[in-house]
Amino acid sequence: MEVENKQIIFKGYIEGPPKETDMEFKVGKKIKLEAPKGSGAFLVKNLYLSCDPYMRGRMRDFHGSYIPPFTPGSVIEGFGVSKVLDSDNPKFKPGDLVSGLTGWEEYSLIYRTEQLRLIEPNDIPLSYYLGLLGMPGFTAYAGFYEVCAPRKGDYIFVSAASGAVGQLVGQLGKLHGCYVVGSAGSSKKVDLLKTKLGFDEAFNYKEEKDLDAALKRYFPEGIDIYFDNVGGDMLDAALLNMRIHGRIAVCGMVSQHSTSNPQGTQNLFSLITKRITMKGFLQSDYLHLYPRFLEDVISLYKQGKIVYIEDMNEGLESAPAAFVGLFAGNNVGKQVIRVAAL
Ligand SMILES: NC(=O)c1ccc[n+]([C@@H]2O[C@H](COP(=O)([O-])OP(=O)(O)OC[C@H]3O[C@@H](n4cnc5c(N)ncnc54)[C@H](OP(=O)(O)O)[C@@H]3O)[C@@H](O)[C@H]2O)c1
Repeated sequence: MEVENKQIIFKGYIEGPPKETDMEFKVGKKIKLEAPKGSGAFLVKNLYLSCDPYMRGRMRDFHGSYIPPFTPGSVIEGFGVSKVLDSDNPKFKPGDLVSGLTGWEEYSLIYRTEQLRLIEPNDIPLSYYLGLLGMPGFTAYAGFYEVCAPRKGDYIFVSAASGAVGQLVGQLGKLHGCYVVGSAGSSKKVDLLKTKLGFDEAFNYKEEKDLDAALKRYFPEGIDIYFDNVGGDMLDAALLNMRIHGRIAVCGMVSQHSTSNPQGTQNLFSLITKRITMKGFLQSDYLHLYPRFLEDVISLYKQGKIVYIEDMNEGLESAPAAFVGLFAGNNVGKQVIRVAAL
């Protein structure tokens, strides 16, 4: 059977914040819903696609990063949850559900399987394999336990706290017996942090004229752990408020993603005076922990000890706007696109 395949194409390398017009929705060539014999590939129907800030990095012509840039004129690549329709690969069979790298299109032929995982059937929403149980959730888990070296009673600050990564970091911090404060960019997000996600305190950084003063207000005794998702001015303010032997997990710098002239960090001298450990990390450094992560987080979720907030957009056509929205803070929780029903 041949079908049309709707796709989102990456048009070309960009400067500055991404725009919807940097991507194009088109109906691709008709394709057969088959995996070619002898290819080792398998054909999937994409059910959910993930919008992640790191994808902005793939929109520039820079080959020195941990992941290569997108190819202009090609389908955008990203994490997805997909159903196998046909397979020439003995590890995957029709009907299997998988999560991993796929294309921003209705159907994808997948050759590279090293980043794909089979989803064991359970009663957890499938889209959570892009958030809570996917790459962002794993980032929170590995970053919190392996990089932050948390101790009961620690004072923890999380930026972009209501997002895909931040919301789990804060909840893990609470379960660990820590005091957790989050920052986010709207009063709705601040409210969710304090009510639904169980943070001790939260504030809207866009309403604070002086971030250093804001952090002093929420952490009169200083910060033990700063889980940094944003970089820029917030990192500088946090550096001024760290306690002796504090830890900064540098997870992301979303405030700097869209500029070719990233701003400098002023307060690094605090690293010396306060003997702070500041460590950048990639979730992929810790993949050996993935099975333990899945087991732990599924168990916590099933016991009702953690919750997860998603922002679900409907339809492949909505993906460019949803992706662009990440950089304006439009997403409330993990940004996911529902492409098709199971
Ligand atoms: N190291 C790793 O392996 C790894 C893996 C995954 C993600 N990350 C990083 O983790 C961070 C969070 O990712 P995520 O998937 O959880 O994204 P997210 O928080 O769900 O979405 C991005 C959020 O960033 C905030 N933001 C956007 N522009 C900003 C700016 N100029 N200044 C401050 N905040 C801004 C917005 O929230 P507000 O409304 O609160 O501003 C927005 O909702 C990103 O930096 C990402 O690159 C790192």
